[in-house]
Amino acid sequence: MTDRYAVFGNPISHSKSPRIHALFAAQTRQNISYEALLAPLDGFAAAVEAFASSGGKGANVTVPFKEEAFRLATSLTPRAQAAGAVNTLSFAEGVISGDNTDGAGLVRDLKANLGCDIQGKHILLLGAGGAARGVILPLSQEQPAALTIANRTEERAFRLALEFAGRTDVLPEACSFAQLAGREFDLVINATSTGLSATELPLPPHLFAPRGLAYEMVYGQQTPFMQQARAAGCRVADGLGMLVEQAAEAFFGWRGVRPATGPVLVALKG
Ligand code: ATR
Repeated sequence: MTDRYAVFGNPISHSKSPRIHALFAAQTRQNISYEALLAPLDGFAAAVEAFASSGGKGANVTVPFKEEAFRLATSLTPRAQAAGAVNTLSFAEGVISGDNTDGAGLVRDLKANLGCDIQGKHILLLGAGGAARGVILPLSQEQPAALTIANRTEERAFRLALEFAGRTDVLPEACSFAQLAGREFDLVINATSTGLSATELPLPPHLFAPRGLAYEMVYGQQTPFMQQARAAGCRVADGLGMLVEQAAEAFFGWRGVRPATGPVLVALKG
């Protein structure tokens, strides 16, 4: 029996998830199928429920449905609860379980693939939308020295920091981009959507520590953020590793087997 999985999004044709999961399945000898399914913008829940009732075992969820998946899930992991969004669903005995593996994927990419230790570091998270929210808890759990959230709309950064106060060991600090002047960070993560619109962020000079890392959550293109960081002499990574690691974490949740991500990353880059 082949167990069925899928990724739901809109648009979805560009998704690399079917290839990633096919590589994981071949490597771990798991008998699964994994397809990309386009859900109508007003028909996500119906599409997921139809998939589950036709025998689907689990699904990934991507833009723009992660918040809707959060509401659809009848049971949530603590990290999905904290993220307010779900990227991984499992279906069993009428229960829709929701998880969020994005933050764990980012942390694993940073630590295992990029050799970037988070403990004791000063971290700057750019953005206060869904992408930023999803990584705050897993980043905080790595015990950074400080976590600063900067956002164009400062108020949104404050609200997000406040939301996590008391839920993490590290109390996030919130500020505007202008308030970053004169400060330096070991790790700067771009969780704004500017990578997709090719917009430059108004970042002050000297933001990137000389031996630091600039991490762009978007993958597959040289974004203005990556160019800014590179021009400042900072090491730069894009979000391809995070994509593969969040997929591995989902695969592990579904199948109980952790695939090796290194060969998959190499295959995707090739
Ligand atoms: P996502 O789910 O991808 O995080 P989102 O919730 O719409 O999407 O959030 C987008 C993030 O990118 C926000 O932090 C947004 O800043 P605002 O809260 O001020 O809107 C940020 N963003 C989008 N376009 C931007 C731009 N041109 N300059 C700076 N920040 C931008």
